[in-house]
Amino acid sequence: MPDIVHKPVMAAEVLNALNPRPGGHYADGTIGGGGHAAIILAASSPTGWLFGCDRDGDGVDAAGARLAEFAGRFEIRRGNFADLADWVPAASCDGVLLDLGVSSRQLDCAERGFSFQHDGPLDMRMDTRQSLTAADLVNGASADELAKVFAELGGEGDARRLARALAHRREYQKFETTRQLADWIERISPRRGKKAHPATKIFQSLRIAVNDEIGSLKRGLDAAVKILKPGGRLAVISFHSLEDRVVKDFGRARSRDYTFAGELDVPELRESRVPDMKWVTRKAIKPGKAEIMENPRCRSAQLRVMERI
Ligand SMILES: C[S@@+](CC[C@H](N)C(=O)[O-])C[C@H]1O[C@@H](n2cnc3c(N)ncnc32)[C@H](O)[C@@H]1O
Repeated sequence: MPDIVHKPVMAAEVLNALNPRPGGHYADGTIGGGGHAAIILAASSPTGWLFGCDRDGDGVDAAGARLAEFAGRFEIRRGNFADLADWVPAASCDGVLLDLGVSSRQLDCAERGFSFQHDGPLDMRMDTRQSLTAADLVNGASADELAKVFAELGGEGDARRLARALAHRREYQKFETTRQLADWIERISPRRGKKAHPATKIFQSLRIAVNDEIGSLKRGLDAAVKILKPGGRLAVISFHSLEDRVVKDFGRARSRDYTFAGELDVPELRESRVPDMKWVTRKAIKPGKAEIMENPRCRSAQLRVMERI
């Protein structure tokens, strides 16, 4: 497949947040096609260093090829950013970037099964070494489990009815391809004038579940705190409210000088702690109009920036 070089999302804003400079150490936990990594390495020339990882082997290969001109200044490993602190030295980084979700490369590759715009196997694994696929979930999880996934990870309002109907339908025909599932959802949940395809939320929820994206994000944010130097910056680009909420909750908890056990913050039960992160900008930064016109896929991107104390 020809390698289309995509411009990284919110490039100027990411550079502004991380302010890469010669001699600095940076980590890109979602190196993908190497777009952000390339601008970080270019901005920190000639001596900046980058640790990079991606769960996707194709992403790792693509990033390696794209970054060839910076040979000797980076180390890339295939793996989950949740495990960054296992191999990136503690308190060594001046900046960490997480550009969440899937890449255009993954979405556009039918065989990966991420998108219903193309017909492919119901797969959706970012790391193809993992055994659980979207087909396993769709054909194997109970109706209750599926309803929970659709509602909690996709915000699907009709989750219970769809999950029950799906569990009934798979008894006589299993779901194997993306189109088969998307067409079936469209048949039992017609668009009725809505712009988005009725399978959008279901596909999002299955992808998040298959890749345990929320669990990985929580662990990845904790790993970022460990590898950042005091004064180092963490920049996170999220693409939907569920991810953004995890980032916001993390920022709030880490910048507070107290913790509390359980769900409710009861002042009498607070325990003091030393904050280890602070917000650089409390509000999320959004892409500008010109970038959205050029790359409509970035329209839901939100960048949040924190600093290690
Ligand atoms: C939006 S793309 C990143 C694009 C990249 N910033 C660039 O400029 O080319 C997201 C990438 O993150 C990877 N990814 C998502 N969650 C991950 C995780 N928990 N650990 C490692 N990589 C992950 C995906 O495989 C995908 O390649």
